[in-house]
Amino acid sequence: MFKHHTHCRACNFAFSAPGTKCQPNDRLIPVLDLGVQPLANDFRREDETCEGHYPLKVMLCPRCKLAQLSVVVDPKTLYSNYAYVTSHSQTMMRHFDELRNDIMVETTVANSVLEIGSNDGTFLAFLKNNPFETVLGCDPAENLAKIANGRGIPTFCGLFTVENCDCQKAKDVVIARHVMCHIDDWTDFMVSLERVTHDESLVVIEVPYYKDMINRNSWDQVYAEHLSYMSIGAMEALCARSSFHIHTIKKYGIHGGSVVFFLRKNGSVVKPVPYAKDEDQALGEWQMLSDNKEDMVLELKSLVADLRTQGKRVAAYGASAKSTVWLNACGFTAKEISYICDNTPQKQYTFSPGSNIPVLCEGMLTADLPDCCICFAWNFFQEIQAKEVIFNKTGKWIVPVPSVKVM
Ligand code: TMP
Repeated sequence: MFKHHTHCRACNFAFSAPGTKCQPNDRLIPVLDLGVQPLANDFRREDETCEGHYPLKVMLCPRCKLAQLSVVVDPKTLYSNYAYVTSHSQTMMRHFDELRNDIMVETTVANSVLEIGSNDGTFLAFLKNNPFETVLGCDPAENLAKIANGRGIPTFCGLFTVENCDCQKAKDVVIARHVMCHIDDWTDFMVSLERVTHDESLVVIEVPYYKDMINRNSWDQVYAEHLSYMSIGAMEALCARSSFHIHTIKKYGIHGGSVVFFLRKNGSVVKPVPYAKDEDQALGEWQMLSDNKEDMVLELKSLVADLRTQGKRVAAYGASAKSTVWLNACGFTAKEISYICDNTPQKQYTFSPGSNIPVLCEGMLTADLPDCCICFAWNFFQEIQAKEVIFNKTGKWIVPVPSVKVM
């Protein structure tokens, strides 16, 4: 199930519905079309049915220029049983360390923390008693909330909405890492934040930064969960109609380039720290990304076709959501790519959505030693390459982002 998107999440501008009479500047502006795709994290076992296919189209708000998907897939379909598990990689642990240090610099009080979209509780486990005495998670995925509760991280299983958060006590710090762009109703999100914060709380929102995505050609970050592609201007437009303001902003390399918004309530006594603004999202930069995407898809397809003509065997690494977007954009199947290695137990021995390529464990690469391996987890490439010492001796890596390269 999905619905058409009707109001800008940031500035609340009402778009004309498709097929209705309207002024040209009432419409969302189409900027990137990835066709109709399966859900990027719908990894399923042989006996499970697929959750369907959905349009994957990015549009700009004509007023505040926030880029957002044209449709919204029902969150119950997306998140009830979710395959994405927070990475335990060294890259992620370094990021957690840096983020915690930055939170500690910005916060004035650090006894309690709530994490929205807390996944399996990995970041909260990092923060528990270090220094937060009270930690609470909130995540709609039953499989992940169960893991978090099992490891001693109290986790409410449900969406972060006004209805669900009303009974929460105000927390000193509220964190939302890579979840805000998954949320459809930002008005409800901001009101919910108001309910779970006090005057001196710090709200920490980490999202992929749209400019990094464009500069890095990472159009594979466009999938059904990522409803919005955040800019600083869009966050300002949203804050302007809430009781929060941007206290300061920091940028990080994680997930191909992320921005963290530190928000405070308008009544806070702490003065905001000046930050660099960015320009409005422009049609031209999105069109450039769209053109580059066409070229990159053609390049990877012809590279794999050439390798196959030479009788070479090709595998892939990283069953990320990004890999699903790539595989469906290229129309690859298990004929072209034999399997995908991934260290996430929830993904192993499943099939990649749409392409039906089997997902196997990491050890497969050493056991099989294919001629080439496409690293779809390009954001962790250095770490993965350093680990695969045996494959490195005989095989070649292909890294598809920011441009298709044989390493
Ligand atoms: P992500 O970029 O969406 O976090 O996805 C990265 C995927 O790559 C995820 O499914 C886990 C996988 N992965 C490995 O299999 N081995 C690794 O060493 C790392 C860092 C990630």
